[in-house]
Amino acid sequence: MAEPKKLFIKTYGCQMNVYDSERMAEAMGGQGYVTTDTPDDADMILLNTCHIREKAAEKVYSELGRFKPLKKAKPDLKIGVAGCVAQAEGAEIMARQPLVDLVVGPQSYHRLPQLEAEARKGRKALDTDFPEELKFDHLAKRPKARRAPTAFLTVQEGCDKFCAFCVVPYTRGAEVSRPVARVLEEARDLVERGVREITLLGQNVNAYHGDAEGGAWGLARLIRNLAEIDGLDRIRFTTSHPNDMEDDLIAAHGDCAKLMPYLHLPVQSGSDRILKAMNRKHTAAAYAELIARIRSARPDLLLSGDFIVGFPGETEEDFQDTLRLVEQVRYGQAYSFKYSPRPGTPAAEREAKMVPADVASDRLARLQALLNRQQMDHQQAMVGRTASVLFEKAGRMEGQLVGKSEYLQAVHVDAPESLIGQIARVEITEAGPNSLGGRLL
Ligand code: 5AD
Ligand code: SF4
Repeated sequence: MAEPKKLFIKTYGCQMNVYDSERMAEAMGGQGYVTTDTPDDADMILLNTCHIREKAAEKVYSELGRFKPLKKAKPDLKIGVAGCVAQAEGAEIMARQPLVDLVVGPQSYHRLPQLEAEARKGRKALDTDFPEELKFDHLAKRPKARRAPTAFLTVQEGCDKFCAFCVVPYTRGAEVSRPVARVLEEARDLVERGVREITLLGQNVNAYHGDAEGGAWGLARLIRNLAEIDGLDRIRFTTSHPNDMEDDLIAAHGDCAKLMPYLHLPVQSGSDRILKAMNRKHTAAAYAELIARIRSARPDLLLSGDFIVGFPGETEEDFQDTLRLVEQVRYGQAYSFKYSPRPGTPAAEREAKMVPADVASDRLARLQALLNRQQMDHQQAMVGRTASVLFEKAGRMEGQLVGKSEYLQAVHVDAPESLIGQIARVEITEAGPNSLGGRLL
């Protein structure tokens, strides 16, 4: 038998890309490829890219440059760019970096095997279509290998919200939901292979409306049905828009025991003026009220969010409104960014209103200091409490395992390896900013 060819995939950006990378690796598995964790011995290198901020996109070009010596040493090596930079920049990528052989967008990667074959013939291959057919229906069935205890499952892609700063509606296209039956089938398959926690993914996952017999289902109904799968113990979902948090989904946080008490619900800003300029279509007060309603369904919910500082036109007063909202709402985890103009988005045209870089950096530092304090408070509040931990893998220290609490906090515990894939009660004994320590009960 011929030696299998080796595929190195590097994934940037969000969890959807992590999921897509897995599916691309499986698609190439059908072409005789196995994955490798170093580019050095690869026959094909694929960068699965992110276009959300300028820095993320630029990283791709500097990484590509680093492959030059590899390509020189092995002219047969094929280099591909997938994901959102591929979608946004298309053929320009090959013009800017001629060592790239193929470019494939996030909606057409089921065609990756054909593109690779093209590239093997020495032709540049490009596919950034939004095909009529759903890629998921054309991807090979997932192999039956045993899996890690946690998995991502993409149920929805694209976004129709058009926040003024965001490239997603352009790179991932309009909102599309996968049919209910396909999602349930994939979930059952994951569980058969050892998965106990599934995170449902979508750019706007709570807008999910998957076709089913008798009419479309929303996310809450999907979650309640997934919860009936024996062996599936934990369900999470990300990322959501506040305006799509329907009553049933809020209720599910209170009455569906398998839905974990963790919610990533970005608000971006606490200023109504900036929220309007961002086209978020809700006010800060409406967001705070929504959080209060979700917390009345699930009081111990750990809330996570995203923030942008330095959006065009943001004043110190607007920024103070953001700090005030954060003080009011209290986050257990958060991601915050300096605004980065993205080509083709409405906000990128508001150059005259750009906030000076040093002002934006200063605001980011102040916001992060507050968010870090809140995160630390949540971490410390766990000390002395019992958490339920799903062990995922060996820890860095001998004899230690790492798992996640129901609140998605990393927890390190002395425990035997046989507990990987199991859920155990753990008494939390120490708290650091990004992880907890505890002992088995
Ligand atoms: N600049 C900075 N941050 C952005 N995000 C999206 N677009 C931009 C941009 N142009 C952030 C938002 C979003 C998260 C995924 O990335 O906070 O929720
Ligand atoms: Fe981008 Fe999210 Fe807004 Fe959609 S809802 S445009 S993905 S920030």
